[in-house]
Amino acid sequence: MRCVIGNWKMNLLSTEAAAFCETFLAHHVPVSGVAVGIAPPFPILRQVGDAVRAKGVRLFAQNGHAEPKGAYTGEVSMAQLQDAGCAGVILGHSERRQLFGETDAALVKKVKAAREWNLLPLLCVGETLAEREAGYTLEILGQQLSILAETGPGPLWVAYEPVWAIGTGLRAEAGQVREVHAFIRTKLDQFMDRGDYPVPILYGGSVTPDNFPELLDIPEVAGGLVGGASLDPLKFAELVKLAG
Ligand code: PGA
Repeated sequence: MRCVIGNWKMNLLSTEAAAFCETFLAHHVPVSGVAVGIAPPFPILRQVGDAVRAKGVRLFAQNGHAEPKGAYTGEVSMAQLQDAGCAGVILGHSERRQLFGETDAALVKKVKAAREWNLLPLLCVGETLAEREAGYTLEILGQQLSILAETGPGPLWVAYEPVWAIGTGLRAEAGQVREVHAFIRTKLDQFMDRGDYPVPILYGGSVTPDNFPELLDIPEVAGGLVGGASLDPLKFAELVKLAG
C-alpha cells in the first residue's frame, strides 16, 4: 500500500478549504492501493472530512492530547478527534517537537491513546541539520523510534522527515533516504511483527510532483507526508496519481 497524506499545518480558512475540496475532488481519481489523507487544522476538521469522505479520503488531525477529557485548556483529545471523524493523527511532527516541546515521553502516551480511540498514529521522526552534520542521524532516529518499545505493537505509520528538508525546498538525496528508511525498517522489525502490523514508512520534506517519482522508486518509501504542495489541490491530486 502507498500513502499520500497532506499536512495543512496552520493554513486555510473555511472558505479556502471549501474551494480546495471542490477543485481537488474534481481532479482526484481514487487509486486502489493508495491511501489518501488530509490533515487540516482543528476548526475545519469536520468540514473537510465531510467534504472528502465520499471519495475515500481519510481525515487526519495534526496532534492530539493523550487524556480523553479534562482540564487541559487549549488541547484536543483523541476522543474528540474520533468524534470529529478522524481516522488518524500525526504525532511527533518536528514542529511540535521543536516549537512546542513535545517529548518522547509524551509521545508514548499519545500513541497509546490514539490506538485506544481507533485513530491511526502517524509518527514523525527526523534529524536536524546539526545532528546530521555531526554524524548522529541514525542515533537520533533510533532514540525517537525507541518509544515503540513502550507503546507495544499496534497499528502505526511512520514518516521520516529530515527537519532541514521541511518547508525549505531542500530534499534529502536518494542515498540518504534509502539509508534511513532501511534503518527505520530494521528498528520496526525489532518492535513489531510485520505480519501483524505492516508499517508503511513515508518520506516528508519538500515533496512535490517533480521529485515524488524518484522518491517512490526508493525501497521502503511507501509514500509522502506533504506540507506545502498539499495546499495546492492540483498538485495534491497529481501526487496521488503519481503514487498509483
Ligand atoms: P513540506 O512539509 O512538504 O512543506 O516540506 C512537510 C511536513 O512538514 O510534513
